[in-house]
Amino acid sequence: MDMTKIFTFLPVPTTIHFGIKSRFLVAEKAKELGAKRTLIVTDQGVVGAGLLSDVEKCLREAGMEVAVYDRVIPNSSLSIVREGVKLMKDSRAEVVVGVGGGSSLDTAKAVAVMAGNPGDFADYIGMHKFKNPGLPVIALPTTAGTGSEVTIFSVITDDQKQEKTVAGSPHLCPRVALCDPELTLSLPPAVTASTGMDALAHALESFTNQNTQPISDALTLKAIELIGEWLRPAVAKGDNLEARYWMLLGSLMAALGFSSTRLGLAHAFAMPLGSAPCNLAHGVANAVMLPSVMEYNLMANIPKFVQVAKAMGECVEGLSALDAAYQAVEAVKKLSQDIGIPQSLKDLGIKEEWIRSISEEAMKSGNIAVNPRKPTLDDMIEICRKAF
Ligand SMILES: [Fe+2]
Repeated sequence: MDMTKIFTFLPVPTTIHFGIKSRFLVAEKAKELGAKRTLIVTDQGVVGAGLLSDVEKCLREAGMEVAVYDRVIPNSSLSIVREGVKLMKDSRAEVVVGVGGGSSLDTAKAVAVMAGNPGDFADYIGMHKFKNPGLPVIALPTTAGTGSEVTIFSVITDDQKQEKTVAGSPHLCPRVALCDPELTLSLPPAVTASTGMDALAHALESFTNQNTQPISDALTLKAIELIGEWLRPAVAKGDNLEARYWMLLGSLMAALGFSSTRLGLAHAFAMPLGSAPCNLAHGVANAVMLPSVMEYNLMANIPKFVQVAKAMGECVEGLSALDAAYQAVEAVKKLSQDIGIPQSLKDLGIKEEWIRSISEEAMKSGNIAVNPRKPTLDDMIEICRKAF
């Protein structure tokens, strides 16, 4: 670590309530925020799994008016945000309650912030564009992955350009997160796997990048340990509440860490890989890119990758530091394989002729600047080829 460099830890403004049945705090927290009318933003998957009923009932029994927008789709879009904003205005909601995975929570945040800012969400793409706070958001995650319940980011697809865009602002950060592991029990194995690998990528990229620092490291190293231990059991047996508990905590801790550091090349690639024509799930894109990204980055910070290997349960005794660092790559590959994630871009339907444009798009990411090594376009193409 460079001790001559000042580091900054950004505490998130979110009050976190973590634990089994914490979802039932929703009415109390909405009241504390001064709400009589609430808007729930969610998706059909959450409704179909019966996850909304307790939250909605709790709010109604507390005497609140509840409007429900349940049409969020995976990789939510600007047009979805606009629909949500219209319902927010029509219902005169005072608090927005997001229930779901990254897409629903990012949409809830995007809808809420527009209550205090004129124009269209598309006008605010980029960092720190929102001047004013919007409505407060209570976030209830139903996946252990994005950490959107505590981040300043909203990832929304531009319908016309068919590409993912990111807005980042403290005004997007939820005021309250109710992290209830029971809400993640019904998540299917494939989604548990991909969202879990996203959380691992958050922890790993934050822990090894150029902005790494002792406070975020404490969060992300613990997250790597938790995810390394509990992702397999959570995929194998979805109703394992212990596994769900630690996975939700791992994804939360990873997000609290990367909020101060940003990420790295896997997430840079995940943007074009999550956009047309690739359209990969975010976690799958990260999982498939991580091993080749780690191999590229490893020599920039060998001791850190040794720590990752150890945190993931690898035995590194008797190995040279370099060999021990490579064990981190093997550990990630093994985990990803064991939980059934396709191991190459080719297997995921990506065409070889797309590699250049994927790499060019990835180079535009803000995560490039903080990556352990500064890549050229040729490096990016080579990393992408290795994952192919
Ligand atoms: Fe991510």
